Amino acid sequence: MQQIILNMQAIIRTKGGKEFSTMKVQNIESPKTQSDELKVKMVSSRINPVDMDLMKGFPSLKYKNPQIGGIDGAGVVLEVGKNVNDFSVGDNVIFYRLFSDTGTWAEEITIPANYCAKIPSNITVKEAGTIALPLLTAYDSLTQLNAKKGEKILIHGVGGGVGFQALQVAKQMGLFVIGTGSQSDKAVLDKAGLDQFIDYKTQDFSHVLKVKEVDYVFDVLGDDILKKSIALQPKKVVSVKFVDTSNMHKAGVNLPGIMKWLMKMMMNKFVKLAKKNNVELIGQVTGANGKMLQKAVDLINVNYISRNYKSLSLTDISTNRLTKNDVGKVIVF
Ligand SMILES: NC(=O)c1ccc[n+]([C@@H]2O[C@H](COP(=O)([O-])OP(=O)(O)OC[C@H]3O[C@@H](n4cnc5c(N)ncnc54)[C@H](OP(=O)(O)O)[C@@H]3O)[C@@H](O)[C@H]2O)c1
Repeated sequence: MQQIILNMQAIIRTKGGKEFSTMKVQNIESPKTQSDELKVKMVSSRINPVDMDLMKGFPSLKYKNPQIGGIDGAGVVLEVGKNVNDFSVGDNVIFYRLFSDTGTWAEEITIPANYCAKIPSNITVKEAGTIALPLLTAYDSLTQLNAKKGEKILIHGVGGGVGFQALQVAKQMGLFVIGTGSQSDKAVLDKAGLDQFIDYKTQDFSHVLKVKEVDYVFDVLGDDILKKSIALQPKKVVSVKFVDTSNMHKAGVNLPGIMKWLMKMMMNKFVKLAKKNNVELIGQVTGANGKMLQKAVDLINVNYISRNYKSLSLTDISTNRLTKNDVGKVIVF
């Protein structure tokens, strides 16, 4: 019988539970590299809001045993599967994977090569792991707008993980960017070229901006923010909070019919409002896509703006466990 060597640490979902309460640092076996995969020594991974939903339990997802947490990150290639041609041992890579195969919070992981992109020169591998899902989401959302240079976009939550990457992408696209965010992020937003700042804690964007003043809105907050954004009558609104059930397969999820119906009913108020205001409403679902991630990371590399982030080690997590307050922090392996 082959001996199993538990030679690396990983953050494991032991069972479904509130927030991250059932996750533990455990020793497991390093995975074997399949022919279409890369084996990666992890350097960093962001704790994204979706990680908490996935670890709690997500409809129709079959969890693995052991189920490693995390969905994005960056690291260094240790091994290359025999059918992979585009990557070599030693490459620095960034990646985002599917809900159905989550697992990046381990010292070593394997991942399909077509989910990965090479990290360009201006971005360190550690920083790359702090932006993977936010950047891919921002790039996919904004390219769907087909915006022209000089047009105006309103980005909500512009100081957050996704919003800040959207700002970098939008500036590279030549757009005029108005952003809603917190005063504490103002300095780094200015550095990244934000054209107009709206402090959401003291100002209501729907009073600051006139109807039809912006061509596009990128929304990461939903509910009233999405409603007020549609009422501004831009040409298009793309929202990560408007669930387009027909696109959930992009994230590796096949929702049961009843869930799809329920979601559709919940989203109907936005559809009606968009129709009334003659706005094209696009629901963003981010899928694993190495080619798109490569375009995104190469685009922002031109004028990459790094920012501070709070980090956690596996020892920190082993001692204090992960909590809701850790969302937005970065695990450094
Ligand atoms: N559909 C998809 O494919 C997809 C993909 C990625 C992410 N998402 C979702 O996108 C959302 C954002 O993710 P994230 O990682 O960017 O989260 P995040 O880092 O927490 O960013 C949220 C930002 O919004 C700001 N904010 C809060 N209330 C606001 C308001 N009323 N007006 C303007 N800004 C406000 C926050 O500022 P303060 O912290 O200063 O309050 C924070 O900077 C999450 O719900 C996530 O699940 C969806």
